Amino acid sequence: MQFHATGGPAGRQRTACAVVGIHERGRMTAPARELDGRSGGLIGRVLRRGDFSGKAGEVLPLLGATGPAERVLLVGLGPADKFTRKAWRSAVVAATQWLARSGARAAILYLAREPVSGLDSYYAARLTVESVAGTLYRIPDLKTSRKPPQPRLARVGIGIAGAGLAEARRGIRDGAGIAAGAALMRDLANLPANVCTPAYLAATARRLAREHRSIRVRVLDRAALRRLGMGALLSVTRGSDVPPRLIVLEYRGTRRRTAPVALVGKGITFDSGGISLKQPAGMDEMKFDMSGAASVFGTLKALATIGAADHVVGIVPACENLPDGRATKPGDIVRSLAGRTIEVLNTDAEGRLILCDALTYARRFRPRAVVDVATLTGACVIALGAHYCGLFSPDDKLAAALVAAGERADDRAWRMPLAEEYAELLKSNFADLANVAGRDAGAVTAACFLWKFTDGLRWAHLDIAGTAYLSGKQKGSTGRTVPLLVDWLLHKD
Ligand code: BES
Ligand code: MN
Ligand code: ZN
Repeated sequence: MQFHATGGPAGRQRTACAVVGIHERGRMTAPARELDGRSGGLIGRVLRRGDFSGKAGEVLPLLGATGPAERVLLVGLGPADKFTRKAWRSAVVAATQWLARSGARAAILYLAREPVSGLDSYYAARLTVESVAGTLYRIPDLKTSRKPPQPRLARVGIGIAGAGLAEARRGIRDGAGIAAGAALMRDLANLPANVCTPAYLAATARRLAREHRSIRVRVLDRAALRRLGMGALLSVTRGSDVPPRLIVLEYRGTRRRTAPVALVGKGITFDSGGISLKQPAGMDEMKFDMSGAASVFGTLKALATIGAADHVVGIVPACENLPDGRATKPGDIVRSLAGRTIEVLNTDAEGRLILCDALTYARRFRPRAVVDVATLTGACVIALGAHYCGLFSPDDKLAAALVAAGERADDRAWRMPLAEEYAELLKSNFADLANVAGRDAGAVTAACFLWKFTDGLRWAHLDIAGTAYLSGKQKGSTGRTVPLLVDWLLHKD
């Protein structure tokens, strides 16, 4: 898919399909009026007849249009006095869905010319690209039945008010990178665990390094992890026949000589719970338990596609959590890479065990900040649902920067507390700490466990258990956290 910014008036540009917004009560936007003037008042007649209400997300194709556009697609934007980002997004998504089913090979979207609350030309263009590409995304399915035809749509123009063209072009470039990264994340997370194994993730990392000269990769196998002393990570993988990997990616932009940011992603390719086995209902969704890892891959892919200046190290501990005769048992005590001993009271709290070793490993890169990303707790889903991910950090500045990036990127995070009172709940009679506390504040105590391993680091933790994927009819990866992380990395300083 090719995107381009265009500054001219809607009435003068030739295209297979011009997409213009209409507010409720038949209120035309400026591009709609321009087009109406050049097509003999067609849009005005449709509105006067009451054939289009302008509700957010409503679409109406006008196929017999005369003038520079072969087709005109009206899209509802909701009330003119309350033009929210949400209404704008649903208009872009609805337009894309119609275009994908139509025969149009090209289109120009004039929706970004509207002043949407808080969107400048850069973000209007970037979010348009992300929405269009995200809507056209198809799951790598293993169905043998006949597939729906591929959309013909190949070129999408984004109509921009003249003054913002240069900004919009940057937005398109960054949006295309983010879309490519989000698609990679979604592909990896959507694949089943018998395909997307730790070795498959490692092979994907190697492919990224082949595709982008700015990415380097190193993969550690079980023997290397043993030599390092990653006892916490290794305790999780004991019950599985699929061997673990620690995957280290490095993105080297022009600032490659400065201290890197480290991104650590939870890569549990399947989480059965281990001996503390999960309930069967919905257990298939635990193939998504490597979404943190996938978001780190996606973020590096985005940075490489954009050609960002940054220096970023991605660290992905990858393994399966399964029960068998060798599996770690409740009460077992393991020794982490940091030297601290951990009593594994619940083998289903495995994410923190692989992450604490990966966080310790991150220290060797002397990072200027470390952010881990993990589908860490069901408790975070209870607390925040699917709209905000949980953000935990002892560093107010880092937390504020991540929250702000999430707002701008439309990939929001809500800050949650870290406090000694919660951390105390992880006390063990037998080891330095336990891997679980009680039922209360489960997302917070999980974050506190990681906190114990990040002394002296500028660290933040994102719990994406609720935002990384959807359940039910729409089951699948969302690609989320890639927009937030890329935005933060691009606008950090
Ligand atoms: N991967 C799960 C967390 C999870 C749950 C993600 C639901 C997405 C949806 C994690 O490994 C886990 O099992 N956490 C336990 C922790 C508990 C044993 C303290 C949980 O949340 O129940
Ligand atoms: Mn678990
Ligand atoms: Zn898990």
